[in-house]
Amino acid sequence: MVFARGAANAAATGGTTRPRHVAIIMDGNGRWATERSWPRLVGHRRGAERVKQIVRACPDLGVDWLTVYAFSTENWKRSAEEVLGLMKIFRRYIEREAEGMSAEGVRMRFIGGRERLDRKLQDLMASIEARTAGNTRLNLTVAINYGGRDELVRASTRLAQKIAEGQIVKPTEADLADCMDTAGHPDPDLVIRTSGETRTSNFLPWQAAYAEYEFTPTLWPDFTPAHLATILDRYGLRERRFGGA
Ligand code: IPE
Ligand code: IPE
Ligand code: MG
Repeated sequence: MVFARGAANAAATGGTTRPRHVAIIMDGNGRWATERSWPRLVGHRRGAERVKQIVRACPDLGVDWLTVYAFSTENWKRSAEEVLGLMKIFRRYIEREAEGMSAEGVRMRFIGGRERLDRKLQDLMASIEARTAGNTRLNLTVAINYGGRDELVRASTRLAQKIAEGQIVKPTEADLADCMDTAGHPDPDLVIRTSGETRTSNFLPWQAAYAEYEFTPTLWPDFTPAHLATILDRYGLRERRFGGA
């Protein structure tokens, strides 16, 4: 658990510094449902409703970029019923939210390997990315079949290809960043994990190298825009030094 530090910085900024890019590990859907003796998928459905609310709240909270971890490369280990149920929730979310996101100025993108996802979902992902490409109010990135190590392997393969083709001679950090799924996205300033777990579970290891972290015991289906606002206020009290003195 990381608590606010850097009162001097807070005084300098009036405690109003906002993270431009917030990334969320949305954890605790299963426990939320199990606590109520409901199937885990009920928790996932409720979790998807929360995503909608949080997405809507972000622009007014000064957040320009929101990245959410929806399904990890490790989550395939779950039962077929849960995995298929989650895939259905993702399809429905995209289908039902397409209109609203366009109207609200949300640009939706996905990170993670797509080839393992079913064709219908891949098509929906590509179509909403194209449809919302001109939107600028909020950049929403959804990580599906995402794993940081998997992304690094895919990115290194691309980088090796560019080197072999002579496009790059001596690779830099920027060259590798350009090969990641997040090419062109700013790094997250703040990573939030719900449900009380204090680990990163293979989420954005490259991009979050200098992010601030917040861990909250709240289960994702209970996480409201008010919880987010409180965490953002605390972020404003932090002093980010990036290795400087
Ligand atoms: C997060 O909730 C959603 C996904 C990982 C898809 P969990 O399903 O991990 O919920 P818990 O951790 O079992 O409570
Ligand atoms: C991380 O949650 C992945 C997502 C939120 C999509 P998990 O519940 O899968 O993580 P672990 O297994 O507890 O680390
Ligand atoms: Mg979990």
